[in-house]
Amino acid sequence: MKIGFFDSGLGGLTVLKEAIDNEALSEDIYYLADTKNTPYGTKDEEFVHSAIMNNIDYLVSIGCNPIVIACNTATSLCINDLRKKYENIIFIGTEPAVKVAADEKLNKKILVLATSITVKQEKLLNLIEELNIKDEVVLRSADDLVRFAESTDFSNLTQQENEYIKSILIDYDLEKFSHIVLGCTHFPLFKKNFKSVIEDICPKAEIQVIDGAKGISKNLINSINRLSERNEYIPSNKKITIITTSSKDSFTIRSKQILEISDKEVEYKLH
Ligand code: DGL
Repeated sequence: MKIGFFDSGLGGLTVLKEAIDNEALSEDIYYLADTKNTPYGTKDEEFVHSAIMNNIDYLVSIGCNPIVIACNTATSLCINDLRKKYENIIFIGTEPAVKVAADEKLNKKILVLATSITVKQEKLLNLIEELNIKDEVVLRSADDLVRFAESTDFSNLTQQENEYIKSILIDYDLEKFSHIVLGCTHFPLFKKNFKSVIEDICPKAEIQVIDGAKGISKNLINSINRLSERNEYIPSNKKITIITTSSKDSFTIRSKQILEISDKEVEYKLH
């Protein structure tokens, strides 16, 4: 079985890492990063939509099924069109973990951080409406975190990242919030920064910083089980192929750091 993963860049690796850490996953993995067009969140929606559809065409053409759209922006823009276009492929999408936060929030508020495209999409707005939590949710874009994650210059980065996170969080009385939902798969790369900034600006805050990676991993395992019930399951040795749409040395270094896989076989390819 070939499992496809897709993101604009490094962010989806936070989802892949969770899936790899889950012992039940022993499949060939093809991770496609559209490094040529990253970041998506601040670009024209039509352009991004077409880039995503082309990239998924490629993962389908090499035989991936299921395919994890390890990107909130791509999920909110394209998952319906992808499911219509490829009826036989199982697509696992990524949505901000708003439901988890809504179940646990008690009387507090939820801050959802995502890309500029995601915070505007009906998919997220409808979910908030359905959960009846419109008045308790604050939506905010935090696109620069994607830029920082994909940056090739690591000098002074932690300070810049912390300052940027602080410039967002300072706008809210964090004691009134129960959760910060990281609604972009790049953002969990900064979980430590979030914790240290919260500690710095509002030490009394009792706030959880959450993402959706665990839920996606569960959905993936369920999909693999479903395929195996349909006798389409072909066990294979776990091999990871990382494909980028532009050549980028820093991607190789960073992806190994994020996945912590120096001991395992990873093949890098250009598409
Ligand atoms: N990692 C992506 C997401 O979850 C895309 C970020 C971007 O390219 O702007 O939204």
